[in-house]
Amino acid sequence: MQWLIPGGAALSGSLQVPGDKSISHRALMFNALANGEAQIDGLLEGDDCLATARALQAMGVSITRLGTGQYHVHGVGRHGLAAPTAPLDLGNSGTSMRLFCGILAPQRFASTLVGDRSLSRRPMARVIRPLNAMGAQIAGKANRPPLTVLPTERVLAVRYGMPVASAQVKSAILLAALYADGETQVSEPAPTRDHTERMLAAMGVPIAVDADRHLISLTGPADLQPLSVSVPGDPSSAMFFVVAATLAAPSGVTIRGVGVNPTRIGALEILRHMGARIEIRNRRDVGGEPVADLHVQQAELTAIDVPEALVPLAIDEFPVLFVAAANARGVTRFNAIGELRHKESDRIAVMIRGLRAMGITCEESDDAAVITGGPSRGAEIDAEDDHRIAMAFAVAGLTASQPLILAGTETVATSFPGFVTSCGSLGWTIEEMSK
Ligand code: S3P
Repeated sequence: MQWLIPGGAALSGSLQVPGDKSISHRALMFNALANGEAQIDGLLEGDDCLATARALQAMGVSITRLGTGQYHVHGVGRHGLAAPTAPLDLGNSGTSMRLFCGILAPQRFASTLVGDRSLSRRPMARVIRPLNAMGAQIAGKANRPPLTVLPTERVLAVRYGMPVASAQVKSAILLAALYADGETQVSEPAPTRDHTERMLAAMGVPIAVDADRHLISLTGPADLQPLSVSVPGDPSSAMFFVVAATLAAPSGVTIRGVGVNPTRIGALEILRHMGARIEIRNRRDVGGEPVADLHVQQAELTAIDVPEALVPLAIDEFPVLFVAAANARGVTRFNAIGELRHKESDRIAVMIRGLRAMGITCEESDDAAVITGGPSRGAEIDAEDDHRIAMAFAVAGLTASQPLILAGTETVATSFPGFVTSCGSLGWTIEEMSK
């Protein structure tokens, strides 16, 4: 599927974005391991979360769709999963693959985890190493999927200092620690999204967070109580509209019901440093997660040196932050962003290639990018089957002097089904053309 994005649209109005991907995965997985029944509302019905649901169903968990985004999960308890009879296909989803490693590592049955072409290229040593140190037996050729997980009699508590800031790795270790005797301690080099800690605590798991030392402790073995969850709107999906409105919404845009967990909104802070006008309104708490409405008005952006401390808190937003930089006055520098090379695509390389095709001056090195803001032209760009690259270039098309043609957009359904319709609701028309 190709998109044609005509330049020069003006956005206005209000919208809601689909449910948070990270929280949706966790609500399904953790409730599947709980002793009892729960209801999830606002679940993201994107391909990634549906892959998680199917994998759990393949291990005997009953998950029933009650309506749009509304699911009933009948937990089987920590020891209630059944051996899958076929490899578990996790599609494009790194979160599913890494968190399932943590859940499956302590099981007494063997399993195999597979993914699509993009997922099969992604590094898994970061999760295999700590889990195998706990006594698991996980292996993959060159530490990449497909992964085989051998049966384990028991896993051991560990103290582990993570070399990379990764919420997925942290979560995998904490999930395995639910099965280990004693206290597991995980420390992160910098804070990452904390949905696992919040949800496990709400499910009655003894978990403690030392925020100053970026240290999380969990005492196992620990059972989970079911937790009915209302999933907030995904701030990562909202951010495409935050940047779009900053560039092209003379009368403003409101995005309702967005998760504003401080570990997820580094991009808002970066954009504010650049001069964006974003108001956080109507803050409330929904099931242990902070939620608010974002009101965004058009603004002129100025280049900055992006503070490195904000990188893990904005990790999924860099494609659209690059687009903001391409529209800012001056030279924006992004440092310590090497992790972007290990996402659904090499996001530094793919973004720089596309922005150059649009006439933007930019440079990349191993773990950095430098982007000089300026006028852009239309181009034909391949999003390389990376959902966030596709949506970021849709935003870039708003200010280009000619239409942008974007290929490789199908994976947008992994995190934002209905993206094109949502754009249309704000007066921003994207034409979908089958190739
Ligand atoms: C996620 C964590 C992040 C993020 C991904 C979702 C999660 O990855 O990029 O989209 O749900 O834990 P890392 O933790 O590997 O940085």
